[in-house]
Formats: sequence, structure tokens, C-alpha cells
Amino acid sequence: SERMVDMLSEEMLTSYRAWLQYEPIEDQSYASNVSAYLKNVAVNLDCDEIIDNALIEWQTALGSMLQMNSAVDVGSELDQGLILKLDASYQEDTYTIDSSENLLTLTGGSSRAILYGIFHVLRLIQQRKSLDNLSIKETPKNKIRMINHWDDMDGSVERGYAGESFFFKDYKFIKDRQRIHDYARLLSSVGINALTINNVNVHKIETELVTDTYLADVKLTSDIFNQYGITMYLSINYAAPIELGVLDTADPLDENVIAFWEKTAKRVYEVVPNLGGFLVKADSENRPGPFTYNRDHAEGANMLGKALEPYGGIVIWRCFVYNNKQDWRDRKTDRARAAYDHFKPLDGKFNDNVVLQIKNGPMDFQVREPVSPLIGELKDTNQFLEFQIAQEYLGQQRHLVYLIPQWKEVLEFDTYAKGKGTKVKDIVSGEVFDNKIAGIVAVSNVGIDYNWTGHTMAQLNLYGYGRLIWNPDLTAEEIAMEWIKQTFGHDPQLIETIMKMVMPSWEAYENYTSPLGIGWMVNVSHHYGPNIDGYEYDMWGTYHYADRNGIGVDRTIATGTGYTGQYYKENQELYESIETCPDELLLFFHHVPYTHVLQSGKTVIQHIYDTHFKGVEQVEEMIEHWTSLEDKIDQRRYQDVKERLEHQLWSAKEWRDTINTYFYRKSGIADEHNRKIY
Ligand code: GCU
Repeated sequence: SERMVDMLSEEMLTSYRAWLQYEPIEDQSYASNVSAYLKNVAVNLDCDEIIDNALIEWQTALGSMLQMNSAVDVGSELDQGLILKLDASYQEDTYTIDSSENLLTLTGGSSRAILYGIFHVLRLIQQRKSLDNLSIKETPKNKIRMINHWDDMDGSVERGYAGESFFFKDYKFIKDRQRIHDYARLLSSVGINALTINNVNVHKIETELVTDTYLADVKLTSDIFNQYGITMYLSINYAAPIELGVLDTADPLDENVIAFWEKTAKRVYEVVPNLGGFLVKADSENRPGPFTYNRDHAEGANMLGKALEPYGGIVIWRCFVYNNKQDWRDRKTDRARAAYDHFKPLDGKFNDNVVLQIKNGPMDFQVREPVSPLIGELKDTNQFLEFQIAQEYLGQQRHLVYLIPQWKEVLEFDTYAKGKGTKVKDIVSGEVFDNKIAGIVAVSNVGIDYNWTGHTMAQLNLYGYGRLIWNPDLTAEEIAMEWIKQTFGHDPQLIETIMKMVMPSWEAYENYTSPLGIGWMVNVSHHYGPNIDGYEYDMWGTYHYADRNGIGVDRTIATGTGYTGQYYKENQELYESIETCPDELLLFFHHVPYTHVLQSGKTVIQHIYDTHFKGVEQVEEMIEHWTSLEDKIDQRRYQDVKERLEHQLWSAKEWRDTINTYFYRKSGIADEHNRKIY
């Protein structure tokens, strides 16, 4: 039978190639300038599968861009061309690229670093950058750079907006693994070195991934990733001993439970020695966990940590723990407090091979949230920061929303954990508290759609995620620019126009959706489209408390839930006071009247009207920009994006009119500019 990828037409393949287009170079003077550097490769290191893949990538790319057959020689010296070598004094992922007089030297701390260096040179060529006089040194900021898939084995993807899973179908691994191979190329080209393939919500059948039913397939998949320097992990079911019918308890202190996990780990590592470890969502949104047995999360995680220790495996334990059976009448319980309240008291109690995974905000990947106050409070515990590339609450890959500007704000946020300048990016990288295991993870946005991400522009968020966590000092503009050139080419008008579309897109989305940090206001369960009271009288702890006078959640120490008290003093004071609280987060922290005057000088109600009209206009501008590019982009990608933009406009209007009308009816205050409100 034909492989899935072979069934894609040539124009679909253009989308499929994403940023690894390797378009033929038309600029002859550029081509001849770089050719001498590329004609030969001298491999002065021991080859392994990663190096083999790097060389295949090199030859494929140069064949396509320059119709060149780059000759590979082992161990020889060169006058012209590329020399590959290792340097044991380098860190594992560090590489340097030096060039002079038609000689390019790529030195890496490991095979993986060489692979990254190869992709770096190809990225330079794809951007038509000079290869003369290079003196590049790259070390990633974060040691672990991870993707979490929320794929289920029936083939569906939880919060997946790009088609079904390319790992699983009908409770089996998909045999055709070409997709996985190409995915590994895309990921390693931007420095991703870890991933999980199955959903954090581990259901009945998926519980068996750690058993002989599936381990042989787990290994085949893990090996593909490994050959691109990517370590695979599995999400596991905390209650596996019960779910698999072995025991009637999952108590982490029970001897039989301990023995169950030791035995399971032993078997898993016999079959899949290169597995990274386990990811666990416990006591969260109805998933089982140690609370059932009156044990805490350190006891739960450490038990698994000890089982994986002999094999060098790690346990990634999520902090997304909150009461999802809240009574909406109860104004004291504040979901935003939950991660901190649960995990701060456990700081220092976790095994060395356990790492806590903390979502970027205290709620759940909203368009605007403050930074989780837990980040900076764990001084003696390994931690990961968790983002979501899938735009669950940001337009579900039907709206164009460039996420890097949002993530940059998170990474640049000053926690004051060790005084001024203790930024999130330096905490999660492990530098501030000298953590052994550290890094960033994000929920994947890919599926079996021929362009991986449904929305072609959503490829940018995957690309950008990898680039940003490699180097958080890259600007959102730099990242977008790199991506546009590699994905769509070099026409200056095209580059400028796409920049104008992507750069303000997060702001536009915020403008036409939920205002001033309040969040939610979406339809229940699928989370798409406006429904202002959708979550207002529900059990999920996600309220806005709008009445005829005002809106917002009082999270102050003085009169509210006390959440602001979870921040270090400087931020606590900033958020506690209505005067200093940043406008964009005002309703997250305070309940204010509609007539309250923001720092911008506008009233809350007028801000709501103005931003909602503006947001729709911004989408109209995006469409104008895109249609101006019709003859500069292949039809397939052009039409794909155009259709989605048109839908986005429809949806933005739906948001605008729903929100404006709701607040007009609640407040009775008219728009100063007399625009149409229903
Ligand atoms: C969100 C999302 C769920 C997911 C959960 C998680 O709430 O809607 O589908 O399971 O996050 O991160 O565990």
C-alpha cells in the first residue's frame, strides 16, 4: 500500500514541507558564492544514525536548492567545503560554525549538536545569508525542549485542530511511519529534543502503552525520534495497577504498588532503552492520583521517580491540579490559587529525577493571564514551564494568532524571586536555582492534515516555539522573519506584508475576545466562539461576575481571594492596587465598575466597545494584506489561508457583537461613538 506522504499531490507537498522548503536558488551570484563551502563534506567523527540523518538532510537540501551533489568523505581534510568534528569540551548541544576562504567548520558537543549545526547552515542558505567569515557559537538556553502530544489511540487528538493523530488509529500504532520521520526532521530543525506522543489524559487502552501489548511499537517510534536527537516519553495512568487489573490500589506507599512500578519500569526499559521517562497528570480534572490515598504529590511522584531511577528515566509531574467541582456560589475558592497552594508547600520534597510541569498562567492558556506565581517559588525543585501551541482558547488554528509575542512576555516577566531581574526565562532554564533538570514544554499543534497544522500560518507557532526556547532573546520579529523567508520566499513585499499580518495578530484576537484579562467567555467544553455566561454558573472556577454595575474578579489580599499574595512583594503591590495594576490584567485582579477609568484614560465600558470594533478592523486589514499576495503564493496555501481568514472575520464579528451587546445591555451605557450595538 502507498505511504500517506506519497499520496500528497505536488502542491500539497509544498504545504507539507513547511519551513524546510529547500526551494531552488534563483540568485546565481548567491549560489556561486556559497557553492565552494558546500561541495564537499569531510566527516571527522564517528558516524551514528543522527549523523547519517544530518548528512541525508544536507544532501537532500543542497540537491534541491543548488542541484548539487555534495560529496561526503570520512576522515579526510579539505581545502574547500564543510568539515564536521566533535569537541568533548563543548556542552552536549553546543556547536560552533566558523568559516573562511571557502572552508566551513562545524564543531559540535555531540552528534545532535552536529545535526543542529547542519540545520543552522541550511537555515542560513534558505534565508540567502552569506557564509563568509562566520563565527557562530550556539548553546540552547534550555536543556530540555519538549513537545506534548494530546493524541489518543483511537486516532483523535484532544484539543487537536489539524486532523487526527499520525501516531495512532483504531487503538493501533499507524504502520506507515513516514509522517513521524518527517515530523522528527521538522522538530529537530528547530532544536526540539524531547516529546510525549500520547495524551496526558490516559484512558483505558492507552494505559497499556507501558505493557507488552504496545512496547514493540513504542520502541519503533522512539527509535525514529532518537535518530533525530529527540527523546521520547510516555504519558502514564497513575492508576495503572488498578486499570490493568493487577491490584486494587494505586497507593504510592503500598509495597505492591511500588513493586508493580518497578517491574513495569524494568520491562519498559528492556524493550525501549532510549525512553526518556513518564509524564503524569494526577489528581487533575478527574484523573486518578495520590489524593485518593491521602498521600501528597511528592509521595506519588517520588514512588515513580524511584522506579525509573535505575534506567536514568525522569518523571514529569504536572501542576495543573485544582478543584473542578467548585460551587459557583462559593466566592472564596479561587482556581487561580490552586497550583501554588498545592505545590509550594512541597518544595524540596521531590526526588532528583522528578520535575514539576507548570502552565504559564494560573488558569488555562487564556488569551491573557498573569504569569503563574508558582514560577519562582520553587527553589529546590526541578521545573518545566508549559505553553500550548495548539490555540485551544486562541482561535483553534482557524484564527491567525502568532503566539510568540505572548510567550515572550511570560519569559521576560520579572518574578523578583531573587531580587530585581529574576526573569522567568532564567528560572525555567534552571540557572537561577541551579536545577539538574529544566526546560520548557508545549502542547503540540500538529495532526495528520497535509500541512501539519490546519492553518498554514499556525506552522509559524511550531517553528517559533522551537526557536524561542532555544534562544529566548530572539525577538518575535526575527523569528517571524526567518520563518517567512524559509516558508514563502524572498519577495520583499511578501515579507513585509506577512509581517504586518502576524505581528499584531495576538493583540487583534485579544481585542475582539475577552477583555482586560478576564478570560473564558467561551462555549462550554469545545471552547470555541463567544458565550459570555457559558462558564459563569458552572463548576470550573472560571467566573467574571459581571452585573449591571461592573465586572471582574477581586483577587486582592485586602478584599478578595488573596491570590495577589502569592507573588513576590513588588508584583504583589503592583497587582493589589487598582491604580498600578496593568490595564490588560485589571479584571483578572479587580472587580470594578464599568465607569472605572483605566490608565489609558478610557472607561472600562468604552475600552470594551473600542477594542471590539478595532479587533474586527484588524482582521479586515489582515485579509486585505493577504489578498494583495495572491500572485506571490501558490494557490493551495493562498486559498487555505484566505478561507480561514474569512472565517476568522465572521467569528470576530460574532465575538464583537456578542460582547458589545451583552455589556451594553448589562450597563445601559451607550458607546461614545454611537456605533452599531444590538
Ligand atoms: C485544558 C484542556 C483539557 C486538558 C487540560 C490539561 O483544560 O481543555 O483538554 O486535558 O487542559 O492541560 O490537562
